[in-house]
Amino acid sequence: MEIRSVGVVGAGQMGSGIAHVFALAGYDVVLTDISADGLVRAITTIDKNIERQVSRGKVSADDKAAAMARIQTTLKLADVGPCDLIIEAATERETVKQAIFEDLLPHLKPHTILTSNTSSISITRLASRTDRPEKFMGFHFMNPVPVMQLVELIRGIATDQETWDTMHEVVRKLGKTAASAEDFPAFIVNRILMPMINEAVYTLYEGVGSVKSIDESLKLGANHPMGPLELADFIGLDTCLAIMNVLHDGLADTKYRPCPLLTKYVEAGWLGRKTQRGFYDYRGETPVPTR
Ligand code: CAA
Repeated sequence: MEIRSVGVVGAGQMGSGIAHVFALAGYDVVLTDISADGLVRAITTIDKNIERQVSRGKVSADDKAAAMARIQTTLKLADVGPCDLIIEAATERETVKQAIFEDLLPHLKPHTILTSNTSSISITRLASRTDRPEKFMGFHFMNPVPVMQLVELIRGIATDQETWDTMHEVVRKLGKTAASAEDFPAFIVNRILMPMINEAVYTLYEGVGSVKSIDESLKLGANHPMGPLELADFIGLDTCLAIMNVLHDGLADTKYRPCPLLTKYVEAGWLGRKTQRGFYDYRGETPVPTR
């Protein structure tokens, strides 16, 4: 099946990055959110990020203009219904995602493929609440979407081969690389990455190292582009905690116990870059460690 139009639900960090790469790859994109301000912010971000690609000679000015013209925004969820492919990229809470799929069902075309950009929630369970579990998949992008090469394709228990093949072809057309993952808590990337970040928070909590020494150790000692605490702030500490909880609940192993310090930061509303405070304080010129 050929995909031409794509509906993106949620205009946050991930949804706007997804709209960006689809529009540049020639797809018609309908981007929806419950917040009008969120939609305006998303378009501003996409414009700025494509402009960055233009200034580095990676995208032409004409291609940028064409891509921006392919993105429509709407506050009405029903407007994405007629698209060939829908990507849900809302908050990482199962009840929110389920409500979105429930509201979408009456507006879908029979051939529409439904996907979720969830970083950890069961695809099989989300799919089972829809009318098309065979046309439902996990479609997990990495942040920042325009830069990161990988997309995880997650098969639910009922996903059919045609849907998987169609999505694999979409990833190829985006110029990215797909990794196939089975539907177990947090799939591949986050199953490995989040326990590492959680361990970095334990290392801080137990006083083994400071924020600076932990991040420098992994950057200079293991060649990671960002230290684990800097990366946690970048991803969002609420998202990190939500994923650790999914691992802990889903695999029932104490090795996935979220660090109490991570919980404390989230309870304080210090969620990382998006709230300007997390393991670093971003309110000044340069980020300052908060511990
Ligand atoms: N849109 C478009 N281009 C962007 C961009 C964006 N949002 N952000 C960065 N770029 C481009 C820059 O223009 C630059 O391009 P050139 O190579 O042409 O110069 C390139 O990316 C590198 O950017 P910078 O020079 O500004 O900064 P940097 O070298 O420090 O790299 C980074 C930034 C790419 C984010 C790098 O630090 C990195 O790879 N960090 C790790 C990111 C990571 O691990 N992501 C996965 C998180 S886990 C996840 O997403 C899964 C989940 O479910 C939680």
